[in-house]
Amino acid sequence: VPSSPRQTVTVDLSDRSYDIVIGDGVLDEAGTRIAPLIGKGPRRLITVTDENVAGLHLARYRAALVAQGLESVDIILPAGEQTKSWRYLEEVLEKTLAARIDRGTLMVAFGGGVIGDLAGFAAALALRGIDYVQIPTTLLAQVDSSVGGKTAIDTPQGKNLVGAFHQPKLVLADTGLLATLSERHRRAGFAEVIKYGLIRDHGFYEWCAANGNAAIAGDAGLLAEAVRRSCEHKADVVQQDEFETTGLRALLNLGHTFGHALEAETGYSERLLHGEAVAIGMVMAFDLSHRMGLVSGQSAGRVRQALATLGMPVDLSALPGLTVDALTAHMAKDKKVKAGTLRFVLVREIGEAFAGSEAPAELVGTVLRNAGAAG
Ligand SMILES: NC(=O)c1ccc[n+]([C@@H]2O[C@H](COP(=O)([O-])OP(=O)(O)OC[C@H]3O[C@@H](n4cnc5c(N)ncnc54)[C@H](O)[C@@H]3O)[C@@H](O)[C@H]2O)c1
Ligand SMILES: [Zn+2]
Repeated sequence: VPSSPRQTVTVDLSDRSYDIVIGDGVLDEAGTRIAPLIGKGPRRLITVTDENVAGLHLARYRAALVAQGLESVDIILPAGEQTKSWRYLEEVLEKTLAARIDRGTLMVAFGGGVIGDLAGFAAALALRGIDYVQIPTTLLAQVDSSVGGKTAIDTPQGKNLVGAFHQPKLVLADTGLLATLSERHRRAGFAEVIKYGLIRDHGFYEWCAANGNAAIAGDAGLLAEAVRRSCEHKADVVQQDEFETTGLRALLNLGHTFGHALEAETGYSERLLHGEAVAIGMVMAFDLSHRMGLVSGQSAGRVRQALATLGMPVDLSALPGLTVDALTAHMAKDKKVKAGTLRFVLVREIGEAFAGSEAPAELVGTVLRNAGAAG
């Protein structure tokens, strides 16, 4: 019997539909919820996780499986973005094949976005595609990366350039697991939560601004609500534009063109977490939209203030040494850039993002300089 209520969000994609089950303690139901998804024969699972998550939570997960007579081959990888690489993709596939899997074998991605993206991609490739389940353990993974079927690794040429669309069969988001995550990572993950409000739901933006700090501090009910409402938004977008062909799904990249350039320039390191880069990037997207005459300076200022109140970085003051030229060069390489022009997700108002036409490079430079970039 669940100790706290469960919320379910369904991602409706006809024969590829699946549920996201959200709540404190859902991990203990992993066995009962996964068992019906496994084929007949040897009821085997391959679980991919990282060293941090394994140390903290693998025993509980294993116990939940054993209680249902399930056995897992566990592949435990180093933590960090460097693991989303050819090398560890090869390691996961080698170990998976060595376990003599068949098409009924299920892969489980148990970790943050790094593990989810890597294991999801491995599942897309093994035997030309086996089923997989996401058990996201970071706020970012629970509200964003575990939902929607985008899987990838990074290569020397850039982030997420090799991957596949492969939807999971189930997502188990245990909000209780976020208690062991650092507050800094919870705060950064919350940038992706408030992002949904800034893109398409003014009311949810207000909710985030009012409740964000309590959620980040660990209020279980607020965290579960933040995860549920984020997943509802992600599901709604993915249902309408699964393969990012109509432009709708691309709106989820609000703040990401700027953010990716900041991450690249800081080496995808602990200096700047993805969500932190997105927070700064969203402030820049509002500033750019304002300078293009699309949104009021008042709205842009309110967003900046709201993110600052949530403890997120909103400019480059903690990142000295970044230059306009270097950042612009990164943006010109971004895969969302068409033919050398800089295209951004822009805003008309809080909650009304749209895919912008090209932005004048001059204004982009002004936005970067205004945030503290040199040059
Ligand atoms: N597929 C998508 O649609 C999508 C969307 C957004 C982001 N992403 C990807 O997600 C990745 C970032 O994900 P992330 O922020 O979860 O990073 P991550 O997976 O590296 O996790 C962050 C850190 O937290 C640790 N950790 C995870 N769960 C924990 C827990 N419960 N308690 C304590 N520590 C824990 C991890 O070991 C790691 O050190 C990036 O590679 C990004 O490209 C993918
Ligand atoms: Zn993101």
